[in-house]
Amino acid sequence: MEHTVVVPIRGSLPAEGQASVGAVSAEAGAAGPAIAPSHPLEGVSDTWLDSLASGLTEHGWLSVDVRGQLEDPLLLALREEVRILDRTETMKAAGIGRGTDLMRDRSVRRDRIAWLQGMTAPQQALFAILDQVRLGLNRRLFLGLRRFEAHYATYHRGDFYRRHLDSFAGRASRVVSLVLYLNEGWSSEDGGALQVFNRDSQHEICGAVLPEMGRMALFMSEDVPHEVLPANRTRYSLACWFRQDEVPLPL
Ligand code: OGA
Ligand code: MN
Repeated sequence: MEHTVVVPIRGSLPAEGQASVGAVSAEAGAAGPAIAPSHPLEGVSDTWLDSLASGLTEHGWLSVDVRGQLEDPLLLALREEVRILDRTETMKAAGIGRGTDLMRDRSVRRDRIAWLQGMTAPQQALFAILDQVRLGLNRRLFLGLRRFEAHYATYHRGDFYRRHLDSFAGRASRVVSLVLYLNEGWSSEDGGALQVFNRDSQHEICGAVLPEMGRMALFMSEDVPHEVLPANRTRYSLACWFRQDEVPLPL
């Protein structure tokens, strides 16, 4: 078994939750040393960023294969991390809302999550790419995205997440949602599709994304209702939210 991927490569662990993720908020690419990748990044391509921005503008969402931008070893390392975490107490039943408002309502969502701390080499490589996405979207769409937060999620057989929005209008908290899928050989019989609803006609289904390894869904957090259909096998993913606020506000 590969067990190197969850070994922290830096000394002190940050506090729980999003503290370390805040470290990636530095503007203009001046990311702090805590997330510097161990080797220089090739960088995501401008044409790829163009296609993300135009999908968000024209439809409010898109799904894309990231294998051209993220290398297979990175995807496999992230998948290995979530698999290992899923066997530990680190993965917790996901809630709705935050802080004292946090509710764990199993009729709404049944996944288990673990926040990424950015302490492992694969997470640092991913964070560097996510920060390029953040800056690329800011340059193209003037969204003023200042930072991001990310968690792994596991849906076991039968788990789902009912139709919802990731952010409430006007809070300027979560602005763009990104979900990266980490499952090899996913077929439609495996269930677990991300079902996307029309942002203008919110009960009309306008697309479905199978959570296949290397596929990514990107959508406007306040506008696009979506749902995770019950999974028939274990479903691993990584969700990220690009935010406009400097410090977390209650959702
Ligand atoms: C979420 C979510 C979608 C997915 O975590 O808010 O909607 O496909 N995830 O995992
Ligand atoms: Mn969601």
